[in-house]
Amino acid sequence: MARSNPEAISPTAHYTGYVWYAHGQSHDAFATKTGRLMYRALRGANRFASAVKLPSLEGMLLARHRLIDQRLADAIEGGMVSQIVEVACGLSPRGWRFAKRYGDAITYVEADLPGMLANKRRILAELGGETAHHYACEVNALADDGPTSIDAILGALDPDKGTAIITEGLINYFDRDSVLAMWARFSTALSRFPQGMYYSDVITREGNGGPFALGFAALVSAFVRGKVHIHFASNDEGERALADSGFDAAVLDPREFAEDLPDLELAGAGRIRIIEAIARR
Ligand SMILES: C[S@@+](CC[C@H](N)C(=O)[O-])C[C@H]1O[C@@H](n2cnc3c(N)ncnc32)[C@H](O)[C@@H]1O
Repeated sequence: MARSNPEAISPTAHYTGYVWYAHGQSHDAFATKTGRLMYRALRGANRFASAVKLPSLEGMLLARHRLIDQRLADAIEGGMVSQIVEVACGLSPRGWRFAKRYGDAITYVEADLPGMLANKRRILAELGGETAHHYACEVNALADDGPTSIDAILGALDPDKGTAIITEGLINYFDRDSVLAMWARFSTALSRFPQGMYYSDVITREGNGGPFALGFAALVSAFVRGKVHIHFASNDEGERALADSGFDAAVLDPREFAEDLPDLELAGAGRIRIIEAIARR
């Protein structure tokens, strides 16, 4: 069974939720008191880093969020995907934004562990309530089977529609064996659909070499009160591990999408990579 500590990870969901809000990607309802306190505590360091062109935590977070948005929107508009399950959604506003943008053309499922899920359900109720096309449910990304497994959640969707799983800000908190087992479960569960896509961020060693960058990883670890696991040396190594887990995958560098993502902080964007993978059938 996998080792992870949701108690240690969860406060960061309040912080990242507030980052999306502070940068105009969200709604007041997602901005919690905890998030605001954490955001204010780190705002000086983030501003200083941006000003002297060093990677800021906010720059890294925004790069990952915006590139996942863009790749997912392309898949929806290209007719590849119309059902989305966001695992470990935290206080991300993506489900709410995409549900507003695409209406009943998509089904968006927001999934997390019970504690965080209660926050999400309260927020969705404030914003008009859950619907058949936008709802929240409990998931345990580490469960092999049972009602909270990814297999059960995907089993409730329409098997004739292209489907995507998203994880954001999750996999570097799990050890390597847990990530590989989770990916294998994801690819198996996705293989029942005509297209099964997977999007995620991942921190690699390649994007985090050198003494300063190691300091950045240490800062992230201190911030989440736990270890950040860096599983892969390079994009290639990540792609090979995804291939072994049943995906054809590309690991993308957000800096290569700077033209489409105005005002991207390049230093922060360079610290993160984005997985775009398709489950083999
Ligand atoms: C760092 S937060 C990221 C939240 C959101 N995706 C974002 O980017 O703002 C990590 C989230 O992972 C969730 N989490 C931790 N362990 C999990 C597990 N085994 N299954 C599902 N979610 C989990 C936590 O409850 C928390 O909401």
